[in-house]
Amino acid sequence: MPKVTYVSAGGHRTELELPNGLSLMEGAMNNNVAGIESECGGKCACATCHVYVDEAWLDKLRPSGALEDELLEGTASERRPTSRLSCQIKSSAALDGIVVHLPQSQS
Ligand code: FES
Repeated sequence: MPKVTYVSAGGHRTELELPNGLSLMEGAMNNNVAGIESECGGKCACATCHVYVDEAWLDKLRPSGALEDELLEGTASERRPTSRLSCQIKSSAALDGIVVHLPQSQS
């Protein structure tokens, strides 16, 4: 299964293997990774699953849609060029090894 590494704001790394198709938000929630919330349950409606995607992986993601882009304007922690919503990123072989950094706060 593809690997995903979550890096907390304090630098703690959690490496998980997630089934294909599971979102990075779901993977975090299912495995009690602190630092990602999911107020809307993955419907791209809350922005509490905000992550900073490691720059090495940014080009491998599909571009964010208009709705995601709009939500990213309202994140609790600052928006950066690497900001994405983790409910919109699905685990896949193409993303095997992806690293995401968790923001200081989601609310
Ligand atoms: S979980 Fe709500 S936007 Fe991702």
